[in-house]
Amino acid sequence: MNRIEVEDLNIYFGEAQILKNININIPENAVTALIGPSGCGKSTFLRSLNRMHDSSPNFRKEGDIFLDGDEIYSPKMDVVDLRKKVGMVFQKANPFPKSIYENVAYGIRIHGISDEDYIAQVVEDSLKSAALWDQVEDKMDNSALSLSGGQQQRLCIARTIANKSEIILMDEPCSALDPIATSKIEELIHRLKKSYTIIIVTHNMQQATRVSKYTSFFLSGEIIESDLTEKLFVNPQNKKTEEYITGRFG
Ligand SMILES: Nc1ncnc2c1ncn2[C@@H]1O[C@H](COP(=O)(O)OP(=O)(O)OP(=O)(O)O)[C@@H](O)[C@H]1O
Ligand SMILES: [Mg+2]
Repeated sequence: MNRIEVEDLNIYFGEAQILKNININIPENAVTALIGPSGCGKSTFLRSLNRMHDSSPNFRKEGDIFLDGDEIYSPKMDVVDLRKKVGMVFQKANPFPKSIYENVAYGIRIHGISDEDYIAQVVEDSLKSAALWDQVEDKMDNSALSLSGGQQQRLCIARTIANKSEIILMDEPCSALDPIATSKIEELIHRLKKSYTIIIVTHNMQQATRVSKYTSFFLSGEIIESDLTEKLFVNPQNKKTEEYITGRFG
C-alpha cells in the first residue's frame, strides 16, 4: 500500500520552477531513496512532504500530494498532525540544548501528556528503537550536545519515534558521520523499515543500494527514473541514470 502519492507536482520559488511534473508513490514500511546531483531538488521535494515550505513567502505548488488519501495542502489538513505523522531527520543532527532525556520527552510533552511514568517509558522505548539506550541509560541528564555526532543523529531519530511519526524523512542523515557511525544508522534503518515508511536522500550510491528497496533519480527538478533499487542500479532504463550512477557526472 502507498502511504504517499504525488501527482503532477510542480514547485516554484517566485519565478523559478524547482520541481517539474513530479509523480511518485511512496510504499509503506519500505525505504525509498532519492538520488541525484546537487541542486536537482531532492531537499525541496522532501520538505514539501511535511509542508516545511509554508513559511517561504514565494513558495507555490501545483499538483497534489496525498498522505493516506488526504491532500496535505488542503485547508482541512491539520499541519501539526501532519508534522507529527511525517517526521524529519536532517543532515546535521539538531538536538535541543537540553538533556538527553528531555530531547526525547519534549515531543511527548507538547502533545499535552504529563504522566511522567508514561513519558519515561516512551523515552526508554524510543531510545531502544533508535539503538541508543545502552549507551545513554546511565547519563540521561547529560546534555545531548555531549553525545557524538552519530549518537546525536540517533537521538534525533528517537525523537521522531517518540513523537509517533510513522513516516520518517531523512535528508542525507549520514553525510556528517564517519563510516562506523554511518553503518550504525544504516543498521537502524534496516530495523525501522519493518514498522516505518522511510524516505532517504543520499549522495552515496552504495548507501542507496544497501538501505533502500526503491530509488528515484532526480535531475534538474525532474524524476528521470523510479524503480526497484536493484533494477535501477543494475539495469537503468535511462541513459542519464546510467551516467549518474556510474559516476560520469554529479
Ligand atoms: N526557499 C527557497 N527559495 C528559493 N530557492 C530555493 C529555496 N529552497 C531551494 N531553492 C532552490 O531550489 C533548487 C534545489 O535545491 P535543493 O536544496 O532542493 O537541492 P538538492 O537536490 O537537495 O541539492 P543538494 O544535493 O546539494 O542538497 C536550488 O536551485 C535552490 O537554490
Ligand atoms: Mg539537499
